[in-house]
Amino acid sequence: MLANAVVERARVLDAGCGRTTRLASSKDRISELVGVDLDAEAGEENDALDRFVAADLCSPLPFEDASFDVVYANFVVEHLADPDAAFREWRRLLRPGGSLVLLTSNQANPLLAAARLLPWRARLLVKRSGAGVAERDVIPTHYRANTPRALAALAARTGFVAQDVAYVAGLHRYAVRLRPLAVVLLGLERILPSRLRATIVAHYRAS
Ligand SMILES: C[S@@+](CC[C@H](N)C(=O)[O-])C[C@H]1O[C@@H](n2cnc3c(N)ncnc32)[C@H](O)[C@@H]1O
Repeated sequence: MLANAVVERARVLDAGCGRTTRLASSKDRISELVGVDLDAEAGEENDALDRFVAADLCSPLPFEDASFDVVYANFVVEHLADPDAAFREWRRLLRPGGSLVLLTSNQANPLLAAARLLPWRARLLVKRSGAGVAERDVIPTHYRANTPRALAALAARTGFVAQDVAYVAGLHRYAVRLRPLAVVLLGLERILPSRLRATIVAHYRAS
């Protein structure tokens, strides 16, 4: 999806860029890679970026209308307190026909939904010991638009048209340090109906 979205000389916004970005490998086609994150320290460490702006994605961003070709958001939607505000802002920043590519967790997945019933400390433990995520990178989640239906409705009402949506296995990411469990989780997810898989990957066009 990113390969289709990142046109030659694209100006790209990595929304919630954090410390690293998958877009580093597409830099030869990108004219400017701008990162935005609430976490200023993480963004300053992200050396793939041409420019970093510390800001809340649910607030107005300091960029001109229609000034980007692509907005990319990797596991960010689940953290947004006001996803409507963020999507409207992304729509404003994109030129008509520009691309929004995102990955986000799917709360229609039964295990992910069950995990939300766990106390915060237990979830933190799974993320730290299973997925190897540093405590400083465990960020509060809201899951306001994290089912296939809620995400599709959000995209439609904020001016996006779906180009491509896929559901991929992702639970094994929580068990990277426990390989046998990771293999079992991957096998289980492959037999689930696709809309119940743990990760939603989507490419929308700005209408
Ligand atoms: C799961 S991390 C993903 C980081 C990076 N995109 C990656 O792929 O490794 C989510 C990122 O979104 C940022 N974030 C969460 N809510 C945000 C908000 N409202 N405004 C800006 N950044 C936010 C976090 O600080 C964090 O860096």
